[in-house]
Amino acid sequence: MSNYYRDKIHSSDLIATFDDVLILPGFTNFSASEVNISSHLEKYNLKLPILSSAMDTVTEENMAINMALRGGLGVLHRNCSYERQLEMVRIVKRARSFVIDDVATINPSAKVSKAKYMMDNYNISGIVVVNEANKVCGIFTKRDIPFLEDDIKNGAIKDYMTKDVISIKPGASREEALRILYESRKEKLPVIDKDGLLKGLITKKDLAPEFPFASKDDEGHLLCALALSPKFPESSQAQNSLKEIDKYVDIFFIDVADFYKKDDIEGTMKLMKLLESDFVLGNIGTYQAAEYLISKCDFNERFIGLKVGMGSGSICTTSIQTGVGAPTLFATAQVADAIQDYNPKMSLIADGGFTKPGDLPKAFAAGADLIMSGHFFAGTDESPGFIDTIAGRKVKIYRGMGSKDARVSGYIADRYIEGSKMLTEGVSDYVPYVGDVTGVLATLKEGLANGMIYAGAGSIEDMKKVSLGIVSIVGQRETSPHDLIGKF
Ligand code: XMP
Repeated sequence: MSNYYRDKIHSSDLIATFDDVLILPGFTNFSASEVNISSHLEKYNLKLPILSSAMDTVTEENMAINMALRGGLGVLHRNCSYERQLEMVRIVKRARSFVIDDVATINPSAKVSKAKYMMDNYNISGIVVVNEANKVCGIFTKRDIPFLEDDIKNGAIKDYMTKDVISIKPGASREEALRILYESRKEKLPVIDKDGLLKGLITKKDLAPEFPFASKDDEGHLLCALALSPKFPESSQAQNSLKEIDKYVDIFFIDVADFYKKDDIEGTMKLMKLLESDFVLGNIGTYQAAEYLISKCDFNERFIGLKVGMGSGSICTTSIQTGVGAPTLFATAQVADAIQDYNPKMSLIADGGFTKPGDLPKAFAAGADLIMSGHFFAGTDESPGFIDTIAGRKVKIYRGMGSKDARVSGYIADRYIEGSKMLTEGVSDYVPYVGDVTGVLATLKEGLANGMIYAGAGSIEDMKKVSLGIVSIVGQRETSPHDLIGKF
């Protein structure tokens, strides 16, 4: 008599999710102000262990900038052309750095209309005017744009620019820059060397206000992360576009529903040879997948993290449509064990399925270094899209990248099974509008910090050591509001 199939069910791991578990309270030998929620993605330190999802209704440049300024990271989505991806990564890298070295410039004989086009499309308010030898001859800002349409169309920059440029020398301090800006009542300060050549630009906006917790690279620019298909592009034009994008990106996040596939692994290896940034691979959901990727594949040292979870997302239908899934908490525990066994330096990102602040401490207790959510951020001011009103409630659209709506673009088709046309793996719906991302992050931070205090863990590393227990159905009911008159 065979027990093969019956054993599969009875001996398989219990697939537990957030609501199935609770963290056991622990002894707290530190004060509330001492709890430290900072974490890291290998060498990148993040003061806030929270990432926003690479989804087209969640993370474009505005979200990415605001997540990084507040100590987290927003992963830019890839459901658009390489041109648009390049635009997004450039905007993120240029934002709020002390000195912008990729300065927008224009020739003195160019038309005013060209400068206006650059300002309207590249999110900049001033352009440095340089001649063919890169010598600075003036500065042209939004205030210099003439009022008459004819002048905009036919006028030359040299007739409207400010010729007397107030500048600063390379290597000057932030304080010196602030002083010159204040004294001159200017907003922009080109950095010019002794030969008159342009070396950068300092803007008032980038010097203040300060964001002490911002996630930055070694040069003080905001960290920039972008989703990437594991499919190696065959055309040299596409490869060149990726190489250009690579200059602005710190970390590529391979972005597929299930990365444990030979073709995706091989494609990613080729991409890692073409590009120079670091790589997070995912998503995966089991110990075996992590073990295989870490110990049996020959990725280079720029493979710094694994993103885990399959089918848990609030907009996901992968598990319903295909019968396969690895809910985020289960996947986190599985992959955390493999990381511990094979490469403890590798970082783990628990992705999707978070609906309450209390889910965050549970993910860290299961071994995560960072968490990623789309659901928490889709309804904020910083997500793409407009605020709509339904039955008097303000809402924003949130759609799965496997939904029909998201897939019509064609850019994201390879996130799921290639060639699959009929089967959607996500839905598109509305989420409540929740104001700006700062408020959402404040709630999440507090839920995490308070959870850590109750658990007796002063840091994310300590949090990984706390105990979790499965809660019975009755226990779940009892640990939520109950026996009240109101409806919850
Ligand atoms: P939350 O729970 O924050 O999850 O909404 C966001 C994560 O879900 C993944 N994702 C999808 N998964 N079908 C899926 O099966 C989809 O259409 C889809 N879109 C996004 C993704 O990992 C994201 O971070």
